[in-house]
Amino acid sequence: MKKHLTNIFSPESGNTVMFAFDHGYFMGSVSGLERLDLLIPSLIDHVDVLMATRGALRTCVKPNFRKGIALRVSAGSSMLNDDLSHELVSVDIEEAIRMNADCLAVQTFIGADGQLSSIDNLSRAINAGARYSIPTLGVIAVGKDMERTDRYFKLATRIVAELGAHIIKTYYCDKFEEIVAACPVPIVVAGGKKLPEKEALTMAYRSMQGGARGLDMGRNIFQSNHPTVMADAIGKIVHHKFTDKEAWEYFSEKTKS
Ligand code: 5RP
Repeated sequence: MKKHLTNIFSPESGNTVMFAFDHGYFMGSVSGLERLDLLIPSLIDHVDVLMATRGALRTCVKPNFRKGIALRVSAGSSMLNDDLSHELVSVDIEEAIRMNADCLAVQTFIGADGQLSSIDNLSRAINAGARYSIPTLGVIAVGKDMERTDRYFKLATRIVAELGAHIIKTYYCDKFEEIVAACPVPIVVAGGKKLPEKEALTMAYRSMQGGARGLDMGRNIFQSNHPTVMADAIGKIVHHKFTDKEAWEYFSEKTKS
């Protein structure tokens, strides 16, 4: 398990830049992810971990890929459903091992209609992963009617940690440091909807200042006009202690025409 965690968290900085492009598992093709076969090879050198579905990994990641893999193993709804919270475990553990997964990513809908099934999914993944020393990444999902407050994230992250997730992905919010302090396992922060790059870098910086162990970012990288530079700028904050101002200067310098 330590080896898998070392594939995720850099032994030098202790932190990680995860690139999430698993959106297709319920959104289909989203803007910026139309050509995974072109985008993913261009980003591989700029991030530490790919977070993806098995279908995307099989089709656009070469077998000589040596970095971390966070394999999305829950599914069950689509953008056509009002309630996204009903999922199941869609990838079995032997397949995850064949895919060289360094962690199993499971969506968890605390407080939603599908809470029971998502806790069942999370528990199944943790139990199966434990048999083969593969960690589980609990992804805190926020339904459209759910509050994005420190109170909610503190509750959800703590529940998912207590159930045995080894890493938790959640959103940045006010009083983020209190969420990190109350969570006994590493937290990585989701990017969320596309922001102007400067704002996304500030969010990344504040997350790291608040105690996050990295970012697990999708749209704020792949919907940028400069995805590789954006990934590098995030990496400067995550691994090299850049401030948001320094990272923005780096981004601006690299993208000026
Ligand atoms: C869904 C996920 C996705 O991986 C994640 O939301 C995608 O990243 P971003 O929000 O940064 O586009 O975990 O809950």
